[in-house]
Amino acid sequence: MRTALVTGSAGFIGSFVCRRLLDDGFRVIGLDCLSDYYDVALKERRHAMLMQSENFRAVIDKVETLGLLMDLFAEEKPDVVIHLAAQAGVRYSIENPRSYLESNIIGTFELLEAARAYPPEHMLLASTSSAFGANTQMPYAETDKADHQMSFYAATKKSTENMAHSYAHLFDLPITMFRFFTVYGPWGRPDMALFKFTKAILEDTPIDVYNHGDMKRDFTYVEDLVHAIRLLIDTPPVRPENGIVPDGDSLSPVAPHRVVNIGNSDAVQLIAFIEAIEAVTGKTAKRNLMPMQAGDVPATWANADLLKSLTGYTPKTAVPEGVAKFVEWYKDYYDV
Ligand SMILES: NC(=O)c1ccc[n+]([C@@H]2O[C@H](COP(=O)([O-])OP(=O)(O)OC[C@H]3O[C@@H](n4cnc5c(N)ncnc54)[C@H](O)[C@@H]3O)[C@@H](O)[C@H]2O)c1
Repeated sequence: MRTALVTGSAGFIGSFVCRRLLDDGFRVIGLDCLSDYYDVALKERRHAMLMQSENFRAVIDKVETLGLLMDLFAEEKPDVVIHLAAQAGVRYSIENPRSYLESNIIGTFELLEAARAYPPEHMLLASTSSAFGANTQMPYAETDKADHQMSFYAATKKSTENMAHSYAHLFDLPITMFRFFTVYGPWGRPDMALFKFTKAILEDTPIDVYNHGDMKRDFTYVEDLVHAIRLLIDTPPVRPENGIVPDGDSLSPVAPHRVVNIGNSDAVQLIAFIEAIEAVTGKTAKRNLMPMQAGDVPATWANADLLKSLTGYTPKTAVPEGVAKFVEWYKDYYDV
């Protein structure tokens, strides 16, 4: 039985990843500090479902706690590590940047140090489409330069890509960095648009629509994302011989390190997303048109060719279908 360490296991994406790995016969160690950035009860419910499996072990602590990951790696010697624990969110990084420094930068450093001592077969770490920052060339390809992050959140995530690259190079650790594009679905995050919009529409309160609705996002359904992650687990990067990297591959010429976009490769207008919620709920949103928010970008759109060439897979759930599944979950969970 292979052992996977999943950090951020009580989070939205982490709980789905753990479920999938348990279903696939892994023993799963889930590490999460149950941070109070959003409703802790939701995180506890996600963890409680995982704890029904005897192959799941929950560890409640912070990734940056000195010695914690080193001890956990020594004890469990994970074969695979999926690092999702992070302080997420673009807007909150203006209010509380220190939490991003601690969770994202120091937390990832502690993880890399533990991996250096007890090397797993493959480590997969969550970065973000926000790493593309001010790039305007769409769709975003992993081989494009990504040097102009617009928020401290994105800056910390891009830094973890660089930190991981140096450890992959120096210590021969195979590392895949994911750039996720606006992930949504049941059990989703209360700080994200779909949750906030659905809640407001069902309660007949106004929704804030930024940049007057002129926003595009490459919305990625959570189960598609997890399927892509599952396939990538068994596709570790290999340090290229003679530094020769195939065209279109973000593989480093000097390290077993690769960046992979996971997105639908379809830029959807925010207004179309809102209309999908209106269609499922049968209600009309009260739109409060707002200017662009600091740190945010008007559009994201993934080039998903690399994911396709590595795994043969492209996420494909269309927004109306994914939104319907979220609204169904929301109504059931909150007994609306
Ligand atoms: N959801 C998206 O659209 C999206 C997009 C791009 C990148 N990401 C990245 O994917 C990962 C998972 O995101 P998510 O949407 O599931 O977010 P989430 O907030 O639901 O999950 C993150 C989990 O990490 C935990 N955590 C936070 N800081 C921690 C710390 N210092 N130590 C231990 N645990 C800690 C939280 O309690 C939470 O349960 C994050 O790294 C995020 O930055 C998400």
